[in-house]
Amino acid sequence: MSLYQDLILDHYRNPRNQGVLKNATHYAEVSNLSCGDKLCIDIIVKNDIIEDVKFSGSGCAISQASASLLTEHIKNQSVEKALMLEPKDILELLGVTLSPNRLKCGLLSLETVKKALTQSK
Ligand code: FES
Repeated sequence: MSLYQDLILDHYRNPRNQGVLKNATHYAEVSNLSCGDKLCIDIIVKNDIIEDVKFSGSGCAISQASASLLTEHIKNQSVEKALMLEPKDILELLGVTLSPNRLKCGLLSLETVKKALTQSK
């Protein structure tokens, strides 16, 4: 097994930032229409900085690992910088290339984070 697959499995089995934030300032949920899985993101923004972020919902290993890696990545980052993230940045975090079907799983977290950041709770 490659190092990158180990990373994905580690984040899937021991997800970072899993849960909900009662005092979130921003929230969004997005469903992956191809499988029905849903990801929810809670974010606390203060002075344009992402102070805290948590995710919940269900999904495959790729979607959960991507949410875990992305939430780690954007914590303490500015909203502006997080909104500039692109699909290639997520693939870089995951360290793998994904087939078109799996790409939806991998990018679900990015779509949900961006939706949350552009709308308040
Ligand atoms: Fe549902 Fe990947 S199979 S999110």
